[in-house]
Amino acid sequence: MCGIIGYIGYDNATPLLIEGLKKLEYRGYDSAGVAVHTEHSLEVVKAKGKLCALSEKLQQMPQLVGNLGIAHTRWATHGEPSEQNSHPILSASGKFAVVHNGIIENYIAIKDELLKKGVKFSSDTDTEVVAQLLDIYYDGDVLSTVIKVISKIEGSYALGIICAQRPDELIAVKKASPLIVGVGKGENFIASDATAIVSRTKDIIRLEDEEIAIIRAGSVKIYDKAKNEISKEIVHIDWDVAAAEKAGYEHFMLKEIMEQPTAIMNTIKPRIKDGKIDFEQDGVSFSMADLKNINKICILACGSAYHVGCVAKYIFEKILRKPVEVAVASEFRYMNPIVDGNTLVVAISQSGETADTLAAMKEAKALGARVLSIVNVVGSSIATCSDNVLYTWAGPEIAVATTKAYSTQLCVVYMLAIYMAKKLSRINSAQHAAFVEDLLNLPSKVEKVLTAQELIKSLAKNFYDCKNVFFIGRNTDYSVSLEGSLKLKEISYIHSEAYPAGELKHGTISLIEEGTLVVALATNDALFEKMISNIKEVKARGATVLTLTTEMHRAEAESVSDYCICIPKTSDMMMPSLAVLPLQLFAYYIAYLKGCDIDKPRNLAKSVTVE
Ligand code: G6P
Repeated sequence: MCGIIGYIGYDNATPLLIEGLKKLEYRGYDSAGVAVHTEHSLEVVKAKGKLCALSEKLQQMPQLVGNLGIAHTRWATHGEPSEQNSHPILSASGKFAVVHNGIIENYIAIKDELLKKGVKFSSDTDTEVVAQLLDIYYDGDVLSTVIKVISKIEGSYALGIICAQRPDELIAVKKASPLIVGVGKGENFIASDATAIVSRTKDIIRLEDEEIAIIRAGSVKIYDKAKNEISKEIVHIDWDVAAAEKAGYEHFMLKEIMEQPTAIMNTIKPRIKDGKIDFEQDGVSFSMADLKNINKICILACGSAYHVGCVAKYIFEKILRKPVEVAVASEFRYMNPIVDGNTLVVAISQSGETADTLAAMKEAKALGARVLSIVNVVGSSIATCSDNVLYTWAGPEIAVATTKAYSTQLCVVYMLAIYMAKKLSRINSAQHAAFVEDLLNLPSKVEKVLTAQELIKSLAKNFYDCKNVFFIGRNTDYSVSLEGSLKLKEISYIHSEAYPAGELKHGTISLIEEGTLVVALATNDALFEKMISNIKEVKARGATVLTLTTEMHRAEAESVSDYCICIPKTSDMMMPSLAVLPLQLFAYYIAYLKGCDIDKPRNLAKSVTVE
């Protein structure tokens, strides 16, 4: 989704802005642009397509030099991807340049009003109304001008603004879309996320909704809508710059797949004390009464995080015997949700900025629910809006297709389930101890599965040109199938679907023909024989079957399948953590062999900050 960076300081802004945009590429975009304050005017350069198109354009023209600038990668929502619609957007007078992430929901009404006044528009974007309003309201006082504009617009926005008449000021304001201020020495930044600026400063200020930042090279002042100056905490982010680099891997996705043993260890280890699961350092605790009062768990998430929720439903219901609803966050608000003070809402999100998840959890909060979030990005909007947060310590995830964040979210789900089950006496001390041991052994088992990399690469050679793939499984294997199928679709553009194995015969089996690839997940001992029947059903109709099972079932699985991948055994609850790994690698190598843009698949965005 759109990326914003802005700079004011002692250095030339242009190369810094381009470097920053490169770091934001992972968010997904289809055009890019930069505006720099050069002497007395604002110069804007934009290009459709990848950042290299913008860089080439900049190289072919006289150097763009200035100490103040804003830049943007655009993921088109209103208006096709084109140079004209890309940001920064200039106001008609050329006085203001604006970059925007979000959607101005009432832009049509404002545009009509301005058109009637004779204002000339040059793009199809919703953003342009902001630039034009700035022009109209500007009376020499930039703070009051911005306040007037944000009082007029509705929707979501993170805005970076520069003004031709204010060479010393970078202006930022946000609502329901993330924006941070990076505080440096003699230079300051704005950015959609810290990745863009972390090489220059690790000190950041997170802007809250409708706070306006007036940023100079040596100062950052933040005001509320009543023009009161607000004092804000500067947070030092503890990020290793190298964590956002490829470290010798060809793609971030492969690097992140391989980082999973460490990410899982970092998520689990600090939360196990004296053989017990302990969320004290997270400030999370549930009394027996709290837990007894919960009569429903409602999980809110999107994309892969939703698939973690699908796994969690099986686990929570089995071990806690409490009903669990998993809702796609974008649907939740509009389905008249049954949520009250006795509902525990669990919001799951890597970025912590997904607009649909954020909106859904706010709705649940308003209905009285306690909201616990499982989030990767510290201090993100979802984390801040929750009653409790359990962070996944996966580190920065750059590839659009999530891997290590998904895996660490699963681990938090296991820990929550075990923690609650113990408190509710649904498991005894011996069962609890066995689960904790399985948790601690998980990283080394994950490492072992990842050594099958070459086998999976060679399997991928047989299938990278296939047109349709079906993933089937039962229980949590079905939930993992959903994720395996999504991974394949996202990065290789091969059509695939995941089905509960027993459901295939009720319609979808008509799509199976000679050579159709079916990936069958059969890691659950109790359901293994049922899966064998389902494998035979599709084999009988010509399917080529790749079965994923545990070592103990190798012989039987091999006897009915064309190909087999075997993984180690852990408790049924934690099998998803091992089962998903071959599927991630399979999707990766298929996409690799197809020559796809693995880290930045077409049309997708890492962090989706519009509803
Ligand atoms: C986007 C990403 C998905 C991700 C989903 C939810 O669609 O492309 O990979 O699963 O958003 O993101 P979140 O940051 O909330 O986990």
